[in-house]
Formats: sequence, C-alpha cells, structure tokens
Amino acid sequence: MLTAEEIVRVRTSFDMVFANANDTMTAFYDRIFELAPEIRPMFPADLSVLKQDFISKLAMLVGSLDPTTGLLGGADILGRNHQKYGAKAEHYPMVGEALLWSLARGLGPHWTDELEQAWRKVYGVVAQRMVDVGNAPPAPSAGPSQRM
Ligand code: HEM
Repeated sequence: MLTAEEIVRVRTSFDMVFANANDTMTAFYDRIFELAPEIRPMFPADLSVLKQDFISKLAMLVGSLDPTTGLLGGADILGRNHQKYGAKAEHYPMVGEALLWSLARGLGPHWTDELEQAWRKVYGVVAQRMVDVGNAPPAPSAGPSQRM
C-alpha cells in the first residue's frame, strides 16, 4: 500500500512530467517498441492520440490514489479495454519498465530511489488491477470499449 508521503511524491513528480508530457510519452512508446518490437502492430500507426490518452489517464489515476483505499477510478475500464486490445499479463512488467525509464529520463535529477519505489508501487497496483479485471469473466452488460 502507498503511504501518504509516497502519494505526495508521485503527484509532485507527475506535475513536473506533465509539463513535458509529449516528450515523455514519445520516450515511453519508443522504449516499449525497443523492448518489444513484436507488439508494435497491436498499436495504431499514429500514436499522437494514444500519447494524450495515456498521459491523461495517468493523471486521473495518480489523482485518485488514496492511502486508505489504494485506488482506483478508471482502472477497471482500462483493464477490460486492454483485454480487447490483446494485452497479456506478461506484457505489463515491460510496459512498467518503459514507463519508469521515461519518467526517470523526464525528471533527471529529481528522480530518486524513493520516487522510483513509489512509482513502482503505483504501477504495480494499477497493472494488477487491470490484469485481474481483464481475467474476470465479462459483465453481462459489457458493451464496446469505452474511453474515458
Ligand atoms: C498500467 C498500465 C497501462 C495503462 C495505464 C495503459 C493505458 C492506456 C490508455 C489510456 C489507452 C488509450 C485507450 C483506452 O483508454 O482504452 C491505452 C491503449 C492501448 N494500450 Fe495500454 N495501458 C497500460 C498497459 C498496456 C499494456 C501492458 C499493453 C500491452 C501491449 C497495452 C497495450 C495497449 C494498446 C495496444 C492500446 C491501443 C489500442 C488502440 O488504440 O487501438 N497497454 N492504454
């Protein structure tokens, strides 16, 4: 579980990254496809909308972190969507490494061991939730993918 202090750390660092969101997102997707070129065809050719979607969803998730409940507005829908995109549990660690790498790159000297640990926890909580929801049987009323 994240401590209140870790949440503050993650939020403050996120605000810094957000100021340079496009660069960080470009580095993030470049890194994913460097680590796993075989998954490139799963993604749209033009990543510009996806970059914006990812950073806004991350903003929402980071904003909804809560030391008592953990999270997580929005992670459930993301989990269901990702099952449809073909994301598998084994892809999540690699995407997490790419995210941490791009955050470290964007934050430069502000990236510390404590911050890395806090971001690892955030990613772990979100990814676990997405995987769990993706593995669950579909809800009877499940409709087409919803982007929030
Ligand atoms: C915590 C981890 C992740 C987060 C927060 C995340 C977030 C997002 C968001 C916000 C979108 C935009 C569409 C939507 O809202 O449904 C998206 C699309 C996508 N994600 Fe992820 N993602 C994560 C992990 C992964 C993983 C592990 C994969 C595996 C390869 C993946 C593959 C994709 C693909 C293929 C799309 C594009 C779908 C399309 O536009 O056709 N994502 N992701």
